[in-house]
Amino acid sequence: MTRDYTHAVELLRAGELVAFPTETVYGLGADAARPAAVARIFAAKGRPADHPLIVHVAGHDAVDHWAEQVPAIAWELMEAFWPGPLTLILKKQAWVPDAVTGGQDTVGLRVPGHPVALELLRRFAAVSGEHAGIAAPSANRFGRISPTTAEHVREELGDRVPLILDGGPCTVGIESTIVDCSRGEPVVLRPGHIAPAHLEAVLGRRPLIETAVGAPRVSGSLAAHYAPQTPMRLVAPERLLDFINAQRHKGDRCGVISPNQPPQAGMPHAWRLLPADPVGYAHDLYAALRDMDHAGVDLIAVEVLPDDPAWAAVADRLRRAVAGAGQT
Ligand code: TXA
Ligand code: MG
Repeated sequence: MTRDYTHAVELLRAGELVAFPTETVYGLGADAARPAAVARIFAAKGRPADHPLIVHVAGHDAVDHWAEQVPAIAWELMEAFWPGPLTLILKKQAWVPDAVTGGQDTVGLRVPGHPVALELLRRFAAVSGEHAGIAAPSANRFGRISPTTAEHVREELGDRVPLILDGGPCTVGIESTIVDCSRGEPVVLRPGHIAPAHLEAVLGRRPLIETAVGAPRVSGSLAAHYAPQTPMRLVAPERLLDFINAQRHKGDRCGVISPNQPPQAGMPHAWRLLPADPVGYAHDLYAALRDMDHAGVDLIAVEVLPDDPAWAAVADRLRRAVAGAGQT
């Protein structure tokens, strides 16, 4: 784990993988223009090869190199949110490899808002062509919790990645908001830190929200994803104490993730207190799930979050984590 940009760029140029920090989660990167390099990402993650990847670029200037027919709404969103936790789906240029797009006619683009990611992208572009991009999914094994520290990446991928750039803990902590701008109307494919209200403030209208779980255009839209190895349940606050006691009766140790202090009675084996605001909660959530996997509990009880748009992105991750928990 290092800040050795020179080595990182050498590896990328040689078609190898480099893990790097972004403000959302750590990414597992490869030269997006080289299908053989991109194939290594899928192999390292154990991810189905028809899932498209996000191409990370150093700035707006690179957009026309990767995408065509870029609509005005997309430029407005870039202007407002890049560098930052927003991925735009755009019509791809004909040359863009199928390995990156999963064979679709669109490409996902993002300028990440993390100084280490930007420095890596700039240096890579300096030697590979000014519009060069790094294809990168989250640097976890398929279906598992996205890493928010360099240490998590090592835990997930071990020797499968020759270099991990260390940029400290991610500030956002959940994956970027994905907005499809390729269909005329903007459509949110994955909720994130940039909420529909933020998008509306820029666009002057509310974006559509895609809720159907169909073909995995967005792999995070598979029902089971972002999941710990320990089984997990969502439990309403008023039922939490009974739930913990029932587990204890069965001889099971229960870990709790909650924005509230533990009640005096019925203390479970592990209680992880998360911030009671959605931004702070998102920041700590994945690390908390990982901690629970290490805590040796039989079950993770996550207190149900407020039914409020501000909590939508973390609630989305929790639902998918519950669906996938205990399966790996
Ligand atoms: O915050 C993030 O977005 C992180 C960091 C590393 O940038 N990346 C990330 O990548 O979460 P990944 O692969 O775990 O999720 C990216 C999602 C995938 O679910 C993929 O299906 C979707 O973006 N995606 C990429 N290109 C797409 C396209 N052309 N059409 C629809 N969805 C696309
Ligand atoms: Mg992922």
